[in-house]
Amino acid sequence: MQNKQRVFSGIQPSGTSHLGSYLGALKNWVAIQEGHENYFCVVDLHALTESRDPKVLRNNIRELAAIFLAVGLDPEKSVIFRQSHVPEHTELCWLLNCIARVGELSRMTQFKDKAQKGGAEAASVGLFDYPVLQAADILLYNAHLVPVGEDQRQHLELSRTLARRFNHTFGETFVVPEPLILETGARVMALDEPTAKMSKSRPTPGGYIALLDEPDAIRRKIRRAVTDSGTDITASPDKPAITNLLGIYAALTDRTISELEEEYRGKGYGEFKKDLAEVVVEKLSPIRDRALELLDNPRELDAILEDGATRAREVARPILQSAQAKMGL
Ligand code: AMP
Ligand code: TRP
Repeated sequence: MQNKQRVFSGIQPSGTSHLGSYLGALKNWVAIQEGHENYFCVVDLHALTESRDPKVLRNNIRELAAIFLAVGLDPEKSVIFRQSHVPEHTELCWLLNCIARVGELSRMTQFKDKAQKGGAEAASVGLFDYPVLQAADILLYNAHLVPVGEDQRQHLELSRTLARRFNHTFGETFVVPEPLILETGARVMALDEPTAKMSKSRPTPGGYIALLDEPDAIRRKIRRAVTDSGTDITASPDKPAITNLLGIYAALTDRTISELEEEYRGKGYGEFKKDLAEVVVEKLSPIRDRALELLDNPRELDAILEDGATRAREVARPILQSAQAKMGL
């Protein structure tokens, strides 16, 4: 494993995982895991910024870990673990808090969006500090590559800034990580509102396809997905709905949008949606079946996470200690 580039990424166990996080993140993690040294993390501490129900959080953590395995992450090839099992994450977060600036955190669009909902004054300090913990996640492993969806670009830029600032102030310590954002699938839009991102916080479940949705629910959601005016199945900026559906189709089948446009020339939305629904069902059904199977056997799941945490700590501990020493601790 010595000469392979390191990869780190994480997903929050809050709400159901959906087709957006699959295409923007999970699918690429599976594709990358062969040639890299990988750390994939259920970032449960990040989920605390929004969670108030311990029982729900506990379930979400297990469900997300099951999904990690069900999509094809392999504990032999990747270290799969929970953030809260590796206390070095919060320790490094504190060190980075002392070089991060209030101004730069105030500019994070995710914070601004989320804080806006309840008023910035009432937003938790955890929500404000969220991107620093994320930087700690990544820098703690000296990860080179961070495969994420487009919405994480700004957070990744902050991680790079903090790595550079630390190195500049205290001496070379951290690798400056690169985001890995693929073109197709990096920004899947909501089915009921193609100008908004597909997200688990959407008020209407018709907007997203959950990875654990039943086949008939998937078919129904795609049938009801909004479409644009006109009849042509072509991608263009004035056709956000069909562009999104073509993007999903392309990402799931590893084909290009122009190939699909060619195939569906002269055909109607009805036929296109029917085929797309079957493509989605075919991809997600095995994932759903495997995840449900794993959830039936939580002991196996917990053992994998425990083992992952042990392996993660072996790498994280010396890197944290080197940062502490550089700062004078
Ligand atoms: P989330 O599901 O919001 O916790 O995000 C988990 C991962 O999926 C991150 O890497 C996100 O960038 C990515 N992601 C989330 N929503 C989408 C989306 N609608 N399209 C593409 N990627 C997404
Ligand atoms: N903020 C990321 C998201 O919302 C989750 C995350 C936390 C993450 N720590 C990370 C992603 C480290 C990549 C690397 O999706």
